Amino acid sequence: MPPIEEAQAIHRQRVSALRETLAAVPLDHPHLTLEIGCGHGHYMTAYAAAHPDEHCIAIDIIQERLQKSQRKSDRVGLTNVTWLRAEAADLLEALPPETRFNGRIWVLFPDPWPKRKHWKNRLIQRSFLTELASFTAPGTPLCFRTDHNGYFAEARATVDAHPNWVVQPSAEWPFEQRTIFEARADSFQSWIAHARPPA
Ligand SMILES: C[S@@+](CC[C@H](N)C(=O)[O-])C[C@H]1O[C@@H](n2cnc3c(N)ncnc32)[C@H](O)[C@@H]1O
Repeated sequence: MPPIEEAQAIHRQRVSALRETLAAVPLDHPHLTLEIGCGHGHYMTAYAAAHPDEHCIAIDIIQERLQKSQRKSDRVGLTNVTWLRAEAADLLEALPPETRFNGRIWVLFPDPWPKRKHWKNRLIQRSFLTELASFTAPGTPLCFRTDHNGYFAEARATVDAHPNWVVQPSAEWPFEQRTIFEARADSFQSWIAHARPPA
């Protein structure tokens, strides 16, 4: 099989396996929250414990980090968080179209890809924000935080220019809990954008 077709087949298989896993997740929960790139799970464990009325989905691409996260949340007896090995774009492809995140969406210290030639790998891209908006209830906040000045500026410009999101400059950060990367950072910047109602 030519390499491109092989890569496409692997991708299809991955998304289809994710769809099967998602069948057991309460995606119709009335308060559904998402964290993308949860790392070792410090943030989502604390957030889910403080918000028992929400169901939280926390994704990462590194299995070992998810296992540690699962152990953390098991130790405190949480039942309202699903730790999921998934790449963000794959997740959006695998979600049933009627899924709506209506709690909060967290992107905390995403990989900054500092070299210009790698910027295309950054999570916050116009096309990704468009896809994410289609699974987000109007008014739901997308909370972004980074210690990388260049990524902050680029992500802010991308969301500012996006028709489906509106930045809330005076919004208060809804929940504080230091992540591993926040603890390592000298400083950081955040923005919060709300999903706009469809035009
Ligand atoms: C710099 S770490 C930050 C982890 C955590 N949020 C924190 O603040 O400590 C970025 C995390 O995002 C995960 N990640 C990177 N790209 C991702 C993607 N496309 N989808 C899901 N997770 C991703 C990485 O595996 C890593 O655990």
